Amino acid sequence: MKSIITSMMVAAGLMVAGSAMAAEMPAVAKKHNCIACHSIDKKVVGPAWADVAKKYKGDAGAEAKLITKVSKGGSGVWGSMPMPANDPSGTKQADMKELVKFILAL
Ligand code: HEC
Repeated sequence: MKSIITSMMVAAGLMVAGSAMAAEMPAVAKKHNCIACHSIDKKVVGPAWADVAKKYKGDAGAEAKLITKVSKGGSGVWGSMPMPANDPSGTKQADMKELVKFILAL
């Protein structure tokens, strides 16, 4: 039983590693589960983060705007699928800022 669990965990680990091969998702993205819907270079539920970086290149207001969007959620920019609020209580703003900075620097 124990070995089955161990091999399942290894397999799950390999799947995660495989989907984030091109550029590493930062630990903070794993911590807040952004990786459930985003990858660096492929659309998953939400847009590829590399495409987000491309869209807002040269937009000086993008950082503040995206911190609010990621924190409170929203839809309509990339399609009708909404992103849920990732920091509805506003207690994780430092992490949200770090993530948006990471995305815009891709
Ligand atoms: C349940 C799925 C889901 C999760 C979890 C999620 N997102 Fe999203 N994300 C989306 C969807 C869907 C969109 C597209 C929203 C739209 O079209 O306006 C999106 C859009 C974005 C955008 C672009 C917003 C814009 O207005 O252009 C950024 C940046 C982003 N997500 C970052 C994050 C970060 C950082 C996290 C983790 C803290 C995260 N997302 C977690 C689904 C998700």
